[in-house]
Order: sequence, then structure tokens, then C-alpha cells
Amino acid sequence: MKKAWKLISLMLVVLLFTGLAAGCNNGGGKVNVGIVLPTKDEPRWVQDEQRFKDALSDTKYSTEILFSQGSSAKEKENVETLINKGIKVLIISPQDGDAAAAAVEAAKKEDITVIAYDRLITNTDAVDYYVTFDSLAVGAAQAQYLIDHAKGSGVPLYLYAGAASDNNAFLFFEGAWKVLQPKIADGTFKIANSSEAEALKDKAELSRDELSKILGQVTTNWDANEAKNKAQTHLTAASADLKGDVAILAPNDGTARSIADVFATDGDVSSFVVTGQDAEKASIQYIIDGKQSMTVFKDVRTLVKDAIDMAVTVLDGKKPETTGTYDNGKVDVKAKQTDVIVVDKENVKKELIDSKYYKADDFTGLE
Ligand code: BGC
Repeated sequence: MKKAWKLISLMLVVLLFTGLAAGCNNGGGKVNVGIVLPTKDEPRWVQDEQRFKDALSDTKYSTEILFSQGSSAKEKENVETLINKGIKVLIISPQDGDAAAAAVEAAKKEDITVIAYDRLITNTDAVDYYVTFDSLAVGAAQAQYLIDHAKGSGVPLYLYAGAASDNNAFLFFEGAWKVLQPKIADGTFKIANSSEAEALKDKAELSRDELSKILGQVTTNWDANEAKNKAQTHLTAASADLKGDVAILAPNDGTARSIADVFATDGDVSSFVVTGQDAEKASIQYIIDGKQSMTVFKDVRTLVKDAIDMAVTVLDGKKPETTGTYDNGKVDVKAKQTDVIVVDKENVKKELIDSKYYKADDFTGLE
């Protein structure tokens, strides 16, 4: 009898210790929060990694960040690695919104809370929350900028979009189209590079299928090279009446810079207004130098903070606050949304330097 008691108390002590170790930072290789980001090849996501590191330094929970390098297979592998490390919360920005369903379904099976980060994971019920910027507003702001800076009427409009595997590409384009369409209808703009958009130009609201058709023609795949090649092809095909002073809807900074470089070398293009998004350092320099017209600044510090706060709330056993929902094709995902800011030459210093997002000496020629 005595022996049995000894054994039981010994087992209790062992259990207590393993329990404590699991709760500790890095105890036994355990990770509390796993973070999976799409690629290191774009400054946008390297920046998110840095902002996560800055913000995580003072949480008591352990975290690990992995990159998927543009591959859904790698992404699934990353999620499995993190599941094996015992994560309780997964923060994930998918490479491909549909393909990521399998990865998050595997996490859900282990009772892990899944937070989609910036990009929604689509057509699965295995997403608990979504932290995001107002992506419709990103597209709307780009479109409004083109309208505000259009010279006269009949302005050739070149349309470009993100990758069709990214739900955001649809939201950005949808947001832009709603604002642009009336100005296409009234003759302010004429579409220069998409027969699909031209065929739909009288429709203010486009369905997902209609958007797909346009994206199929003008996608950059979020790839600067693809953007460059498309821009070259479009300008080679364009007649003289599609040159002169033109407007360009470019979906993000990486693609905007390469599209702008192509338009800048065409002698028949006398001026162009080109949009962007992300406030990448290279594009801020382009804006200062007058080579890119604007960018939509998405303060990643806020998104990171929202994602971490949400994860910590879940780990503390409480319910995170949300501000709305996003339909992912299968369920309405509870979401927390953040506003965006238009930045051009006029306010670049105020929004990005005075706000301490970047340092002034990261740039040259800043007034
Ligand atoms: C993000 C953008 C980014 C793009 C390409 C989108 O989902 O919202 O900020 O520029 O992906 O990586």
C-alpha cells in the first residue's frame, strides 16, 4: 500500500513538471502560437515578420514564424511542423486561399484556433477569425486617386490585378471597379488593355465569375516580372490614341514599380498616374522621386497587434472582439478590420516619417 502511494505521488510530481514545462517559453520545444507567412521574396511579408518580432518581444507566450515561399505544399508542411510543436493558435496568411483549406483543417482537428492574417482562407469552415485591412477600401482609394488626377476625358486606363489565388486580389479589384465604372461609363476613362473589362463596362457590380474573367486577363500574379511583361505587351499592342496622358491601376507597390518603369520608357506616353499599395520603402523612394504617384499605406503594426491580441485572448481562454464578418464561400468568418491611408508626395513625410513607421534617412530627397 505504501509503495503504491509513493508511486502515485512520484507520478504526480512528474505530471506537474511536464505541465509546468509546457506552459513555459520554449519548454521542451513547445510553441504556443505558430505564424505562417506566404513568402520572403516580397518586402511586404518580410516587414510583417519584423513587426511580429518587434511586437512579440514582450508576450509571455512562445511563437515561431515560418515562410511558405510561394508553395502551398510547403505551407502545409509548415503548419504540420507547428502542430507537432503543440501550438494552440495558428496565425496564417495563405499562399493560395483555397489550397490552404487542407492545412487549416488539419490544425482544426487538433483543436487549434485558426486566425487568417491579411488574406482570407476560402471555402472551408476551419477558420475561426480573420484580421485584415479594409481591402475594398484599398481598391476604392486607388481608383479615386486615378479619378482625382485624370486630365480631361477619354483618358486611357490600364488595368492590372493581383493573383487570382489570393482572395484580396478580388476585393481590391472589386473596390476599384465600383469607383471607376461610372467614370468609364461617362467617358472620363477608356479601357486600354482588357476586352473582358470592356465587355462588362456598363455593370457597376461584378460577380465573382465576372471579376475572374477580368483578372484572368490582367493578373500580375503578384509577380513584378509578370507585371513588367504584361505592361510591355500592352504598350506594344496599344494604338496612338491609347497613349499620351494615361492612368494605371496597379494593385501593389512591387508590381507598380515595374509597370511604371515600362511606361516611363515609352516615348508616346507623355505622363502617367500609377497607383500602388503597401508603402514599401522602394516605392516611397519612387513617390519622392515622382516615379510612382501614390501608395495605400497599410500600417502593419496595427495588423500584427490585432493578431497577437487575438491569439493571447484565445490562449487566456477568452473570446476575442471582432468588428464584422467576411463570407469565405462556406462560412461567415468573424473579422477585425483596420483602415488604410492614401499616401502621395504631399503627405508622405507626415504619414510615414512623423508616425515613426520609417526613418527619414531611409530615403533621399525627402523635404
Ligand atoms: C496583400 C498585399 C500584398 C499582396 C502581394 C495581398 O494579399 O494584402 O499587401 O501586396 O498580397 O503579396
